[in-house]
Amino acid sequence: MQNDLLIRALQRQPVERTPIWVMRQAGRYLPEYRKVRAQAGDFMTLCQTPELACEVTLQPIDRFDLDAAILFSDILTVPDAMGCELAFKTGEGPVFNHPVTCAEDIAQLPTEGVTERLTYVFDAVRTIKKALADRVPLIGFAGSPWTVATYMVEGGSSKQFTKIKKLMYQAPESLHALLDKLAINTAAYLTAQIEAGVDVVMLFDTWGGVLSTQNYHAFSLHYMKKVFAHIPRDYAGKVIPRIAFTKGGNQWLELMADMECDALGLDWKSSLKDARERVGDKVALQGNLDPGVLYADPETIADHVRKTLVEYGDYPGHIFNLGHGIFPDIPPEHVQALVAAVREGV
Ligand code: CP3
Repeated sequence: MQNDLLIRALQRQPVERTPIWVMRQAGRYLPEYRKVRAQAGDFMTLCQTPELACEVTLQPIDRFDLDAAILFSDILTVPDAMGCELAFKTGEGPVFNHPVTCAEDIAQLPTEGVTERLTYVFDAVRTIKKALADRVPLIGFAGSPWTVATYMVEGGSSKQFTKIKKLMYQAPESLHALLDKLAINTAAYLTAQIEAGVDVVMLFDTWGGVLSTQNYHAFSLHYMKKVFAHIPRDYAGKVIPRIAFTKGGNQWLELMADMECDALGLDWKSSLKDARERVGDKVALQGNLDPGVLYADPETIADHVRKTLVEYGDYPGHIFNLGHGIFPDIPPEHVQALVAAVREGV
């Protein structure tokens, strides 16, 4: 690997400078992405065409010289392959044609043959690895079972999580059955991504933060642990570092650090310094600039970057990132300013 800063930082080894990548780095804020997206017609076709998925994965690497690429796909491909049928309707976000509404629906969900329906993802990984030619590591990913379950039960995005909370309190054993199936399929899916060539894996737990502490333990953390327990620690002679990110999970960092993972993603509400003191040297930390900072002018962005680096201090094990995905209306020049400031350091 020509640039292995990310791999070393994830393992808390010394690095010459802090590596940076950006959550949702391939996406609508880039005009070159919008062009390929229009050419593909819809989002799922983009994900399912390895050459196009490869092209958009490399766009932010070519433009900004970031220290990692992330597979272009989505966390909702797994429930799509389980039969829920995903569609992205313009202006509406993701919608499932067959949401999960009752115990019978859950009983019918498959735990066999799911990765076979996701071959397009592994083809994309192989195409991307070839195109990257070992410039930077490739991050593979999946959603946490809890986060993916919210979309399956709600039928799409949600604000109140009414349906899944009803299921949680009226029929908790059904929700556990759903999460268990998701954990099995997610582990198989990540294992197949590793076999296809990804160098790092990340679990996105975007909605863990809507749970009470007790329920976070029972319904989110427990199943992330199950996923990590069933994927290989190393492959083809290389360690495959693991990152776990619960948005709104600041209060549970100590619990998360006890998972079999190498790094925790932090949202912008956590303090890196406080997080480092709380988790000790158990894990690396990834984050955590407020994505809103990128609305500021380039000098102000650089100021915030320096503050973040100073706050983290001199410990090994920091990967610079935003605290959540980049917004679609951020000017690409502001990302350039962000990357330049991280490279310059303090
Ligand atoms: O660059 C990258 O980060 C890699 C690709 C990636 C996408 N989605 C592409 C995408 C990744 C890692 C994801 C993860 C994802 N998807 C999450 C977890 C991370 C997070 O942001 O919290 C979640 C919750 C989803 C589900 C999802 N996908 C939603 C709710 C939406 C619609 C709203 C939105 O953000 O656009 C998507 C669509 C989506 N996934 C787009 C992209 C680039 C936009 C689709 C388009 O081009 O219109």
